Amino acid sequence: MTSSALEAFIAQATARSRQTPDPADCVLALAPLMLDLIEQAGTFLEPQHYRSSDAGYTRNLIFNAPDESLSLYSIVWLPGQWTPVHDHGSWGVVGVVEGVLEERSYVRLSPDRGANEEIDLVRGGTVLLRHGAVTSFVPNPDHIHVTGVPAERSRAVSLHLYGRTMTSFNLYDVGARTRRRMDVAHNES
Ligand SMILES: [Fe+2]
Repeated sequence: MTSSALEAFIAQATARSRQTPDPADCVLALAPLMLDLIEQAGTFLEPQHYRSSDAGYTRNLIFNAPDESLSLYSIVWLPGQWTPVHDHGSWGVVGVVEGVLEERSYVRLSPDRGANEEIDLVRGGTVLLRHGAVTSFVPNPDHIHVTGVPAERSRAVSLHLYGRTMTSFNLYDVGARTRRRMDVAHNES
């Protein structure tokens, strides 16, 4: 970690997330920090944080707290790369560094009773996030979405701060009405 801006962000994000255990309050406290961090991205993003792959969007770890209570990734989205339908089981704050990141939401119609079957989802709205934009989400009920870049747009790069080490998330099969936990890969910093 070589940037004072990144060090300050990590210190403030750690302190604020500890002070605000409620996830909705936590993202309120952290979103302004992300807004500022985007503008400092040039001071700490290095070539390894821009790694990408033709196989799919690429998650590059920037910081992982020793107690795994906080993690920060850069994600690189090449044209046409999308996540599956998922939620994170965590709060998250996302900031866009380059390009336009698109988020398409899903709305859960069936009550969330913790079961992984008989889940009814319908498609919701979309948001288009340019450089400088910040969005966030909280769990319980989880925020279900797909995120990515349509084939006709150029590369996007975004920063993702989560309330845990994000090594797995919940994947939904909308047609089968099911979800399952799945490990997700990342590149080490
Ligand atoms: Fe997500």
